[in-house]
Amino acid sequence: MIFDTHAHYDDEQFDEDRDELLKSMQDLGVGTIVDVSATYESCEKVLALAGKYPHVYAAIGVHPDEVGELNEDKIQHMKELCCNKKVVAVGEIGLDYYWDKENHDLQKEWFIRQLDLARKKEKPVIIHSREAAADTMEIMKEYASGLRGVIHCYSYSAEMAKEYVKMGYYIGIGGVVTFKNAKKLKQVVQEIPLESIVLETDCPYLAPVPYRGKRNSSLYLPYVAEEIAALKGAAAEDVVLQTEENARKLYGL
Ligand code: NI
Repeated sequence: MIFDTHAHYDDEQFDEDRDELLKSMQDLGVGTIVDVSATYESCEKVLALAGKYPHVYAAIGVHPDEVGELNEDKIQHMKELCCNKKVVAVGEIGLDYYWDKENHDLQKEWFIRQLDLARKKEKPVIIHSREAAADTMEIMKEYASGLRGVIHCYSYSAEMAKEYVKMGYYIGIGGVVTFKNAKKLKQVVQEIPLESIVLETDCPYLAPVPYRGKRNSSLYLPYVAEEIAALKGAAAEDVVLQTEENARKLYGL
């Protein structure tokens, strides 16, 4: 069954139908979901969801755009939350130079601190990296050796994807691959092995065609699997099976 390796069902866009939606997933072919925290506040929310639904797991971490709110007490609390049995990763963490041009040093500092948290808690990492390819790779090489994980919503070159694959990382592919203008990402999918790809929504964001611009959910992942299958000359069922196996290895499930 489909494994959604990166979702945000704690987002307020799901307030009206979250329960109904999550309860329907397994009947509709989505077997497992990892709900990923992005803010410090959302860490408790993703854990609550993981506690309520057997097929939902949690990742604890703070997104680079939100690290300004972190301090010693909060990172200590996150470390304690990581002891919960349903926490399968530290994320999403990383660097994002798209919006904020001022706080690169702060982002780097908390990225490294959260990589360290993953190492201490023996968890894989979920990496968010946007417009920060070189700095991300530099930090990963220096501070993430021995860690496992996924480069989520991958947006860089095929060459760099192959380098991450060599380092043992998975590449997260979502709705963007179905966009007509996503030539670079389609090339990435063609050039890396299916054994290194995991499916993700990043919902409520980044819905695939034909729902582009609408609220995304794990139920749209078949469109992503079909696009990957077309790009690799494989069957969509095989893409679903292989990416599920990859996701289980990634998160140790
Ligand atoms: Ni995300």
